[in-house]
Amino acid sequence: MRTVLVTGSNRGLGLEFVRQLLARGDRVIAACRQPETAAALQSLRQAGPDRLGILPLELADPDAIAAFARDLASRTGALDLLVNNAGMTVRGERFGTVTAEAMTAALRTNAVGPFLLAQALAPLLAKGSSPVVVNISSQLGSIARTDSFYTPSYATSKAALNMAGVLLAHGFAPSGVKVVMLHPGWVRTDMGGAGAPLEAPEAVAGMLQVISGLKPEDSGRFMDYQGHSMPW
Ligand SMILES: NC(=O)c1ccc[n+]([C@@H]2O[C@H](COP(=O)([O-])OP(=O)(O)OC[C@H]3O[C@@H](n4cnc5c(N)ncnc54)[C@H](OP(=O)(O)O)[C@@H]3O)[C@@H](O)[C@H]2O)c1
Repeated sequence: MRTVLVTGSNRGLGLEFVRQLLARGDRVIAACRQPETAAALQSLRQAGPDRLGILPLELADPDAIAAFARDLASRTGALDLLVNNAGMTVRGERFGTVTAEAMTAALRTNAVGPFLLAQALAPLLAKGSSPVVVNISSQLGSIARTDSFYTPSYATSKAALNMAGVLLAHGFAPSGVKVVMLHPGWVRTDMGGAGAPLEAPEAVAGMLQVISGLKPEDSGRFMDYQGHSMPW
């Protein structure tokens, strides 16, 4: 049984990752900010306490990340897959009015948090079977594809996440942990909005297929949910 950690697991893509990982037989540790109010996630507990553990994690807080890593190490001896899925965006940003608070908040949650979490879980990942760190990135973090002034805090944070992931790929190389950045597609979630063309089950199924097929030389790559290379 593979042990998988998913962040931001109470809704959207994170919740769908938990559903599909449980369905395929994995042991899932689902991290979210407020487990007590995560009704949809709690309803998946019927899979059994040995199959689904729900733990609190606030990614914008480095102390919480360190405490979470210590707690996890007391519950499991190894981690096979970390899905750094949690993310936030800032709505309505316009050129001339972008604030330090907005940019900093996006960087903390979308780039610093995932980096620190992967780093803190390095000992558990090193003991995993074909271990992988997946950073859920975005096409909006692609510098090469940027052709307008759109969601600057989010876009900057996802570009930073991409760099963090490439650095992690190098850092993890000696211990055999692969690190990839995946763009999930434009998906109908709270973040993606009602006009998005893709449903979460299709996006997550695609990403899980990409993850299953990863080779050592894929570490450090930026791909979409169908395995196509994304431009940096
Ligand atoms: N949907 C798309 O079209 C799309 C496209 C490209 C990339 N992505 C990426 O895919 C990932 C999942 O997005 P989604 O569409 O599922 O978004 P979503 O429905 O808005 O869900 C975001 C999740 O992240 C959690 N989160 C936000 N800030 C957090 C923090 N500081 N600490 C811990 N958890 C936090 C949220 O928890 P709360 O419920 O507590 O707020 C929620 O569980 C994100 O990284 C996003 O950037 C999405």
